[in-house]
Amino acid sequence: MGRVLIVYATRTGETRDIAELIAEGVRLEGHEAHVADARTLRSEADLRGYDGYAFGSATYHGDMLPAMKTLLFLAEKADLEGRPAGAFGAFGWSGEANDRIFQTMKNIFRMDMLGDCLRLKSSRLGGGLQMAQEYGRQLARKLKS
Ligand SMILES: Cc1cc2nc3c(=O)[nH]c(=O)nc-3n(C[C@H](O)[C@H](O)[C@H](O)COP(=O)(O)O)c2cc1C
Repeated sequence: MGRVLIVYATRTGETRDIAELIAEGVRLEGHEAHVADARTLRSEADLRGYDGYAFGSATYHGDMLPAMKTLLFLAEKADLEGRPAGAFGAFGWSGEANDRIFQTMKNIFRMDMLGDCLRLKSSRLGGGLQMAQEYGRQLARKLKS
């Protein structure tokens, strides 16, 4: 069984709900998922020991939340190259955070990314629940057995 770490940054909870649904998708594929608020991770050691990763932040003022920026600087030191990964986040109209996280994981950390990031206005709208679960399932299917 693989272990997936899903880290979120949120102000009003939408991105946390998406993280929990991604975790459900991972578990439906028979793997373990751990969900964490970015503010609770203190060192790169907290990021080590997982087989797959998903990082997400809501977009505010065209940017990711500060807690996710701090998390990405920790991740830079955690040697995550080649690990299956995805990025996600809630947004209102522009959603810059999701793609910036995705591109950082791809181009700086050299992770094995899913085809695209998951962008949702809400997990409760427009099939968001199913899309978030499916994103978790796809990530789980990339885990090396
Ligand atoms: C002050 C403020 C600024 C925002 N700026 C943006 C923005 O630049 N682009 C965008 O797509 N959404 C923006 N939003 C919308 C949030 O991303 C959206 O409400 C999202 O669901 C919040 O997710 P969260 O509950 O995980 O914090 C903004 C919301 C507020 C209240």
